Amino acid sequence: SFYRKMTKIKQEIYTYLKQYKELYGNDIFIGYDEFSLFTSLNKIDYTKKNKLNKFENEISLCDKCDIAVNRNNFVFGAGDPEADLFLVGEASTHQEEIHGIPFVGKIGSLLDNILFAINKSRKKGVYIANILKCKLPKNRDPLSKEIQNCVPYLKKQINIISPKLIVVMGKVAAKALLDIETGFNEMRNITYEYCGYPLRVTYHPAALLRNSDLKKPAWDDFKWVMNYLNK
Ligand code: URA
Repeated sequence: SFYRKMTKIKQEIYTYLKQYKELYGNDIFIGYDEFSLFTSLNKIDYTKKNKLNKFENEISLCDKCDIAVNRNNFVFGAGDPEADLFLVGEASTHQEEIHGIPFVGKIGSLLDNILFAINKSRKKGVYIANILKCKLPKNRDPLSKEIQNCVPYLKKQINIISPKLIVVMGKVAAKALLDIETGFNEMRNITYEYCGYPLRVTYHPAALLRNSDLKKPAWDDFKWVMNYLNK
């Protein structure tokens, strides 16, 4: 039968690999597309950090959108690969794009302070990435084509990290991911599901810098986040 044949084939493969291992130790010749790599099975690194690095290398020359032409750096994302909190921003500013790191400068330090207040940091527990990996000219809103091109990258980052919670910052990013017409304030009190992960919406830190009245409700959102993560 089919299953007996499969068992026999499996047995043959096993015997072959065992002999191979006896002859060559853990080094094994693996075919990889048109390349062939001589690599050690023991050395293959399956950590989230490695998966993110590999993925960044795969996509960092992306030229799907016109805005890629003026790119200084692809802003992939930054933070703790083992994070339980995945923060989503919109797109980097010129300054951030020069550094290749999301949320630096004044907005970044405000965000870092908020994270500190919930006992987290980019080094421990938090990963940050934007909807778009390229900066936008004159910080205009992203086009729907740009969102369509770039969101799959974000989804893959989310799936690699597999966070406990996603928090999207700002109306533009929230609408880009959720594609709904709900008012922003209403969104803030709903736990959505995204790629199988719970997702909450809060203010963009830039909005808090523009209007300090928003700091109190933003802090309420982050207290909710802290409680959720500590549950
Ligand atoms: N910097 C980012 O990286 N993302 C934003 O949304 C805003 C500033």
